[in-house]
Amino acid sequence: MPTVIRDLMSTPPVQADGDDTLASVARRMADANIGSVIIAEGADVVGIVTERDLLRAAAVDRDPSTEPARRWMTASPDVLGPDEEAGVAWSNLSDHHYRHLPVVSDGALVGVVSLRDLMGIARLRPADETSEDVPRGLEGVVVADTAVGDVRGLEGFFHYRQYSAVELAAHRSLEDVWFLMAEGALPTGEQSEAFVRRTAELRSIPPGLSALLPALAGLGQPLDVLRTAVSVLGGELAWPPTHDGDPHQLAEQALQLCAVVPSILTATYRLRQGLAVIPPRSDLAYAANYLWMLTGVEPIAAQARALEQYLMLTIDHGFNSSTFTARVITSTGADLAAAICGAIGALSGPLHGGAPSRALDMLDAIGTPENAEAWVRDAVEHGGRIMGFGHRVYKTDDPRSLFLRDVACQMDAPLVDFATQVEQTVVDVLAELKPGRRLYANVEFYAGVVMAACGVTREMFTPTFAASRTIGWTTHVVEQAAHNRLIRPAARYVGPVPPQPVPEPAPR
Ligand SMILES: CC(C)(COP(=O)(O)OP(=O)(O)OC[C@H]1O[C@@H](n2cnc3c(N)ncnc32)[C@H](O)[C@@H]1OP(=O)(O)O)[C@@H](O)C(=O)NCCC(=O)NCCS
Repeated sequence: MPTVIRDLMSTPPVQADGDDTLASVARRMADANIGSVIIAEGADVVGIVTERDLLRAAAVDRDPSTEPARRWMTASPDVLGPDEEAGVAWSNLSDHHYRHLPVVSDGALVGVVSLRDLMGIARLRPADETSEDVPRGLEGVVVADTAVGDVRGLEGFFHYRQYSAVELAAHRSLEDVWFLMAEGALPTGEQSEAFVRRTAELRSIPPGLSALLPALAGLGQPLDVLRTAVSVLGGELAWPPTHDGDPHQLAEQALQLCAVVPSILTATYRLRQGLAVIPPRSDLAYAANYLWMLTGVEPIAAQARALEQYLMLTIDHGFNSSTFTARVITSTGADLAAAICGAIGALSGPLHGGAPSRALDMLDAIGTPENAEAWVRDAVEHGGRIMGFGHRVYKTDDPRSLFLRDVACQMDAPLVDFATQVEQTVVDVLAELKPGRRLYANVEFYAGVVMAACGVTREMFTPTFAASRTIGWTTHVVEQAAHNRLIRPAARYVGPVPPQPVPEPAPR
């Protein structure tokens, strides 16, 4: 019988509350002679604090008697099941360079397994392979402090500046959430009205870029054109390096950029279709104006609201690749346009923002609900990825996908019934073929269904995502610039051993 986690794990697990101090967490570690404490809320594992986290806090002189564990924990850690084989735990720990993993059975925390436990049963690998290196893809690595928002993968929850993003999308306007991101608090009624007026006035494309746009639009897809257009805009408006500019100026640039991106995108789209550009209307709110500029038809309220809700849900989402890119570029002191051009580039990849049109293409390829299982099975067995499924952080339902599925149902979106059937099939097939990976629909799966029902065509799905995400990116740029230190990590060199003598060039 292979050794399973249940045979190895330490139990009962030592737990603490996220509000407990690091000092009390350290005492529990010392008393139990263990290297980690699980942070739990009720039955849910929300994080893990290890000796390494204590060291990180000590290294920056944080007072352990006041510092809350929540601030230093690794949030939403991977978990193991008690019946998984020791080899699985080994792969998980060594691939991701974890030293401890919580063990969860039927949703309840039952133990903790550590590298030490595994090394105890077998000399599975030479000790020097268990390095301190960060995991591939920086999974779970905390690289910055932020007050913008956070994603809790195990709980299926994310927030903007402490407010549930889903609740904001349900109850507020996009402009209110934009204000929250930019100003740090939700607006009063008066502030909200003033912000709507102010941002509506910033929608016009500046003349230099406007003159160039017809030529640019002929050269690439709307997202590529946006990337170039933002670069041109930064030059035309003479945005200084963030290193030299002042915070107020940067915040103004951010507001203008967020306001003008929808105009650039919709103008590009129409120019590519050979249609006249439709100027923005200051009497329409952000989402309604977006649809107006895209189609030339004033949208019905349900469509404008559905798009607005999609946009609100996609403003920010932790340290996703494009946000991280924007912050890395800002950390060099480069200007806002440079940071956003980089972020747009990162977003364009199919593993990040480029998936929603591919998800609808997949629905087309599947054709009927009866074909779904065979199609998905074949794709996964041939090493393919099912677009709109899986997430680096969510190991449960993506709250954005749940919300958008409801939005699509309320709108009676044409594809929603089919999409719902395919979703269930994909989840079941992935659970069978990729056991333990916990793959569910992500935001992109229903994003396409909702956007299509609002009159947005497939080539505009990712660009539309870029419009709302610009609000998140710029918020992060402002935050990074305000507390900047150059982001400059290291890599482990794995090539041939240096130094080698440089060969003379071959004689000609
Ligand atoms: C989002 C995504 C990039 C996250 O990737 P990640 O955290 O790096 O996960 P990994 O690439 O390490 O994948 C882990 C395992 O799950 C599998 N997996 C992840 N997503 C999958 C998907 N959508 N379809 C099939 N298998 C998937 C991988 O093949 C891998 O299996 P393996 O352990 O047998 O090699 C990934 O889930 C994906 O490619 N999804 C499809 C693209 C998509 O929808 N992007 C939009 C994201 S919001």
